[in-house]
Amino acid sequence: MKRENFGSRFGVLMAMVGSAVGLGNMWRFPYMVSEHGGAAFILVYILCVFCLCMPIFFAEFIVGRRSQSNAFGAFQKLAPGTGWKWVGLFAVVAPLTILSYYSVIGGWSIQYLFKACTFGFTERITQEYLDTMFAGFISSTWAPLLGHTLFLLTTALILVGGVKGGIERFGKVMMPLLYLLVLSIAVWTATLPGASEGFTFLFKPDLSKIDASVCAAALGQSFFSLSLGYGTMLTYASYVSKKENIATSSTTIAVSDLIFSLIASCAIMPAVFAFGLNTQGGPGLVFETLPYIFSKMPLGGLVAILFFLALLVAALTSAISLYEVGVAYLVEEKNMSRKKAVAIIFSVAWPIGVICSLSFGPLSDMKILGNIFFDFLDKLSANYLMTLGSLLIVIFVGWKMKRQDVFDEFTNGGTLTGNARLFRLVWPVLRFVAPLAILIIFISNLL
Ligand code: TRP
Repeated sequence: MKRENFGSRFGVLMAMVGSAVGLGNMWRFPYMVSEHGGAAFILVYILCVFCLCMPIFFAEFIVGRRSQSNAFGAFQKLAPGTGWKWVGLFAVVAPLTILSYYSVIGGWSIQYLFKACTFGFTERITQEYLDTMFAGFISSTWAPLLGHTLFLLTTALILVGGVKGGIERFGKVMMPLLYLLVLSIAVWTATLPGASEGFTFLFKPDLSKIDASVCAAALGQSFFSLSLGYGTMLTYASYVSKKENIATSSTTIAVSDLIFSLIASCAIMPAVFAFGLNTQGGPGLVFETLPYIFSKMPLGGLVAILFFLALLVAALTSAISLYEVGVAYLVEEKNMSRKKAVAIIFSVAWPIGVICSLSFGPLSDMKILGNIFFDFLDKLSANYLMTLGSLLIVIFVGWKMKRQDVFDEFTNGGTLTGNARLFRLVWPVLRFVAPLAILIIFISNLL
């Protein structure tokens, strides 16, 4: 069967940026920064991206593009008849954990978009009112469930359109738009009196704040934000043309993702300082604090609508990538039609998402290891499954694949001389440094 390919270089890169840029940048990153000491966290985060995530990114890219196959088929093709196919199966099943709860937060964005459109976040609103509204909303039964269902359905419909019709067309238009929007909010916040304190918080690191928990949080965030460890980038890389340069493509994606997270923080934190709000924002930062900021902005009603629309689009392009891993597997390995594959994944992810959504309210007493179901899934994937997946992928590339094959894929058969030089650094990192570093983090998370 001939595999569908992305039509243009811009299209596939945008789809990968779309996967990386999501709720992780606009919702998770700013609140992690505010909780873990601002600039110190950002500094460690940047180190994690370049020193650890880049080699993992290369590894996923190499496995995906070399095999031209879905996450399961990739390991079977490159190491036939070995137990590595179980790693492939892991990479197919694990994204479903994130997809299920991701869809719940995506649903919140739909509902907040609706709120922004209908009553708007008017000038008279108080912070307490917004806090109560958020707490009441997430603990209710039907509104979040409706949001979750709409979100997952939208993702499914886009996926039925296939790689070219759905994913590519969507990413190409929406991602650049999103950049512009968040950038304009950031420019406005920069003009607020008192905003400079926020910039100091974001960019003047207090090194004494760096400790083990800051490092662990920064690392988890970097995996999450770059969509690593779950076969997502691997699956997208399998659609990338053999002519592309793996090193420059992955670096472009990682840097765009980083810039996006930084701009999102610049849109939020300076305003938090300017209005004297609580800097320990927590997960509610986007949904409680931002509406307050919008209520004070000129044309705030319109900005609120655009922002929640942008948040929704960012979440959708990421959800699409999580969903596509399973769809590609079912279509290629089980010879299913795309429609049927999409329906099957839906029937697994939707009920899990329902339990996640209800765990904020009616099911809040149901605890697993002391966590409500939503937090349990989030911790399970961010702290354990993603690290485990990344570890297995680097071990596969560093120890199971032949050095020559890895070299050929990384340098396009030796034609890219810059990459050939870089490979001398990348190879030992893939074999020794990355597995060891990830192992240490994995074990320290277990303790
Ligand atoms: N990177 C996305 C975000 O920042 C989330 C995401 C998409 C993801 N695909 C993934 C996270 C695969 C882990 C693994 O919102």
